[in-house]
Amino acid sequence: MEQASLFDRLGGREGLHELMEKIVTNHFANPTVCTRYENAKASRAELVEGAFEFFCTGLSGVPTYTGLSLVDAHRGMNVSDQEFVAVIDDILKAMTAQGVGELEQAEALKILWGMKPEIVGI
Ligand code: HEM
Repeated sequence: MEQASLFDRLGGREGLHELMEKIVTNHFANPTVCTRYENAKASRAELVEGAFEFFCTGLSGVPTYTGLSLVDAHRGMNVSDQEFVAVIDDILKAMTAQGVGELEQAEALKILWGMKPEIVGI
């Protein structure tokens, strides 16, 4: 049988919205990265909505994201390797808390890792 898309296996828009709320909650509680988010131009709600539409667009192909490109969103921040790993950790923790399976986490990790050059050290 053909495997459902990662978007569907993560619960579609509803599942992804819950996941983004958990991820942003983890970022604000994570000492390695919390000040980045506390000092962001975007409010906490805007961070949730921005990340939510970004992932919905990437995973469903329906272009609802109208925010900045990854490079433009992180330009000038000089994000470190350690911060990148901390953010990935927050995402995996949120996925585990939401009952997302290991296969889906591994697929997500691969996609996220591929974004590193557009985020770290720029
Ligand atoms: C794969 C990992 C990451 C993804 C997919 C990602 C994605 C995004 C996206 C899409 C936005 C823009 C949201 C919008 O335009 O509404 C954003 C903003 C932001 N990201 Fe990331 N990000 C990642 C990693 C990181 C890391 C490692 C940091 C540093 C700790 C970081 C810090 C921020 C901050 C502070 C903003 C808000 C900028 C502002 O409004 O001033 N991100 N991120």
